[in-house]
Amino acid sequence: MNAEKILDLFSLEGQLAIVTGGAGRLGVQHCKILHDAGARVISFDVARNGELDGIAEQVVVDITSHNAVTRTVDTLVSVCGRIDILINNAAFNPRVGKDADATSDEHWSPYEIYPESTWRKEFAVGLDGTQWCTQAVAKYMIPQNRGCIINIASTSAITAPDHRKYKPGKFKSVAYPIIKAALVMHAKDWASYFSRVAPCIRINSVCFGAVNFGSMDPEFLAKLGERNMLGRPARPDEYQGVILFLCSKAAEFITASTLVADGGQTAW
Ligand SMILES: NC(=O)c1ccc[n+]([C@@H]2O[C@H](COP(=O)([O-])OP(=O)(O)OC[C@H]3O[C@@H](n4cnc5c(N)ncnc54)[C@H](O)[C@@H]3O)[C@@H](O)[C@H]2O)c1
Repeated sequence: MNAEKILDLFSLEGQLAIVTGGAGRLGVQHCKILHDAGARVISFDVARNGELDGIAEQVVVDITSHNAVTRTVDTLVSVCGRIDILINNAAFNPRVGKDADATSDEHWSPYEIYPESTWRKEFAVGLDGTQWCTQAVAKYMIPQNRGCIINIASTSAITAPDHRKYKPGKFKSVAYPIIKAALVMHAKDWASYFSRVAPCIRINSVCFGAVNFGSMDPEFLAKLGERNMLGRPARPDEYQGVILFLCSKAAEFITASTLVADGGQTAW
């Protein structure tokens, strides 16, 4: 295959992509690579991020609202005439290290007192939001029999959290691994459905390992390094290739799959 054909294989020229949580730390990275590959990118987020200027259009929408998501996608498609890619990336996550704030604390509670409100909020964003966005785009992808959806899961979908890496009394959110495991099955379930109604629509999930955004203290960073075969957490831009690959023609035969990018963590 010559260089031109390889470029064409990974081109997303003319495609319309939605990234939920596009204003977040990894969301920005997903938006960047989709934009660089030629797609018109729309961030669906409750927040805005200046880093997306010139890369993605920012729609402020709360994806936990089924109505708001449906209305927003309807408007988008009526203006743009198509929808090709959905990245279900948004999550209600705690921040770690120096980025942690007061609202982060509730996420680290002992399981028996984990607040119901936090549990519901995490499910509403991570799982309900994924379902509302998938339904809203499926309505348009099915008649065009074309589309690609990626659910952003985590290594936590595969292995239970190892609480030993956190400070005493702190525990990884009880909701997080359950939501991420559900996202893996959500993708398989929808892929099976699409096979009956529009078999050219592909939906997959990805299990990413922890990312070092530069805010972790050295002790925690060292613990994360010990957890995988590459000896370090991922760099923020290191999942861009995975996103581009799964959205591209190079992955045309891949659906209902779970791609793991974790430096070997879950193989240990
Ligand atoms: N950061 C990591 O180390 C890591 C590792 C593996 C998987 N992941 C997954 O990758 C995804 C992105 O992670 P991140 O670190 O960039 O998180 P982040 O917290 O930086 O970004 C999440 C984004 O979702 C948005 N959001 C929250 N609630 C919303 C709502 N109701 N409607 C619309 N948008 C909403 C937030 O405003 C934020 O911009 C998440 O699904 C996360 O679980 C992250």
